Amino acid sequence: MLIAFYVLVIFSLFISPEVSSKSFKCNAEPSKKISISPTSQEKKEITIRNITKETVHYTFHEARSYGESGERSLAKDEIHRYSGDVALDITFMHGDEEMSYRIDPGSANSFRHDENNKLDLFQGSHGRTDVVDLAPYLETPISVVEKMLEMAKLDKDDVLYDIGSGDGRIVIAAAKKYGARGVGLELDPQLIRKSEANAKAAGVENLVKFRMEDATKANLSEATVVTMYLLIESNELMRPHLERQLKLGAYVLTHNYAIEQWENKLLDYVSLKAEDGKEHSIYLYRR
Ligand SMILES: C[S@@+](CC[C@H](N)C(=O)[O-])C[C@H]1O[C@@H](n2cnc3c(N)ncnc32)[C@H](O)[C@@H]1O
Repeated sequence: MLIAFYVLVIFSLFISPEVSSKSFKCNAEPSKKISISPTSQEKKEITIRNITKETVHYTFHEARSYGESGERSLAKDEIHRYSGDVALDITFMHGDEEMSYRIDPGSANSFRHDENNKLDLFQGSHGRTDVVDLAPYLETPISVVEKMLEMAKLDKDDVLYDIGSGDGRIVIAAAKKYGARGVGLELDPQLIRKSEANAKAAGVENLVKFRMEDATKANLSEATVVTMYLLIESNELMRPHLERQLKLGAYVLTHNYAIEQWENKLLDYVSLKAEDGKEHSIYLYRR
């Protein structure tokens, strides 16, 4: 009996670490933290992404005496990184013209095409390199927002998604004027906070939500109307996602930039002069 007891004690000494570590693992709650990569600002690095369809050639020069310089080629979808707390002068061809920009340490930049289809370097918005910067932060003038909502023939049964919602103005205007529900997808946490405060001030916080989410991966299936103020390449990136996710009949409105290969879905096009004195285009598509 006594021998059997000692055998049991010795045996349990060998297995107990295993048992306790397993039970520890079982009790451990999986981390619910959303993983967000550090931004270029936090890492103090300059990043240059190429979201055009071709390789881009440029020269760089560190903006300090005896700084490094050179010529580089950046393939489609690739990122070049420059660490060190020093600004860079970047030169490239913009059509026939040579362009030069000084870019600051801690900034995320992308090569894209401008509204005249010429190569340009844009400063990004959220500064992350694990997700595409769809567009820098720029506001749609209020008169353009109003026209977009009128063209979408919104009513209270609509659910409007704004892709890259900035300060929330489109989603908030849709809720305030038409009683529509809305979701703003935005990666910049400061803009999310600003949108929430704006929604509260407009008294529509029960109708709208702002989600810090990469719009290229977001679930858009409940949307009846989608608005986008992005750039040509970003519309192109969003197109397959819209085709996969949206219900047939959903409206998509874009500000200033058309969606390539959706010519057969175009229902209307309007050009208007806004309060900023510039001409703005609105494209209305039906999925
Ligand atoms: C040109 S602004 C448009 C703001 C607003 N929709 C408007 O029309 O006034 C584009 C916005 O897209 C956001 N953005 C960029 N990349 C994004 C991404 N991958 N997912 C969600 N938002 C993004 C930027 O932070 C920026 O605020």
